[in-house]
Amino acid sequence: MNRPIIEAKELCYTYPDGTAALKDISFRIAQGGSVALVGENGAGKSSLLQHFTGCLLPSAGTLSIKGTMVEGKNLKAVRRAVGMLFQNPDDQLFMPTVFDDVAFGLLNTGTPENELETRVMEALGTVGAAHLRARPPYRLSQGEKRAVAIAGVLAMGPDILVMDEPTSGLDPGSRRRLIRLLKTFGHTKVIATHDMDFALETCERAMVIHRGRISADGPARVIFSDKALLERASLEPPRGYGPTGCP
Ligand SMILES: Nc1ncnc2c1ncn2[C@@H]1O[C@H](COP(=O)(O)OP(=O)(O)O)[C@@H](O)[C@H]1O
Ligand SMILES: [Mg+2]
Repeated sequence: MNRPIIEAKELCYTYPDGTAALKDISFRIAQGGSVALVGENGAGKSSLLQHFTGCLLPSAGTLSIKGTMVEGKNLKAVRRAVGMLFQNPDDQLFMPTVFDDVAFGLLNTGTPENELETRVMEALGTVGAAHLRARPPYRLSQGEKRAVAIAGVLAMGPDILVMDEPTSGLDPGSRRRLIRLLKTFGHTKVIATHDMDFALETCERAMVIHRGRISADGPARVIFSDKALLERASLEPPRGYGPTGCP
């Protein structure tokens, strides 16, 4: 692998109450890679993703993004590189209109007023939400909220997209649209999900996380056809994979 865009080395994280959420996590992700992080509830997916924006910092070991250590003095650079989509879009949308919400990050990073309209409308156009520009975000459907939250992240031009359970609460149509959209992105992607079919459609690689450890890491098609491995991690194979474990 060329120099990885994301690299974790023996990363451990223990919450202040003593819960050891991540244990000895090591992996490298290449530029443009798409990785599904799959694991049962409580496995450690969100805890790991929160390290990608420095919301949590390793208790031991290291994480680097584009060759920069994720640590206090580098957080600005790290957050420029990483666009994070939270599990609940309500945690991400808080301005009076959709336009203002997508513009928020751009204004904060000093985008000139004359570029603002173009950048916001481009991002909203990409997710098919240009018509929502004047709507208050809290009145949107779950799928529309998700699209607007993605637009806010895209507008910032990140190299890496990190998503936490992006299909939760989506109806089948919105879920399908999200899959189509993600397939068009050339970004490096890390997507935590327990929607195995979604993972298989959007990611070439899968990492299984079980009780805070990476228990498998490889091509998604290989991992998802290994029934015994998935069972050990309390996961079900994607629907397209039969009882023999073959597609
Ligand atoms: N703020 C917190 N304080 C203490 N323990 C936590 C906190 N957040 C999560 N945990 C624990 O860390 C472990 C991993 O949780 P999490 O990363 O949320 O898993 P997942 O996203 O895979 O469901 C779980 O045991 C969970 O209970
Ligand atoms: Mg989670």
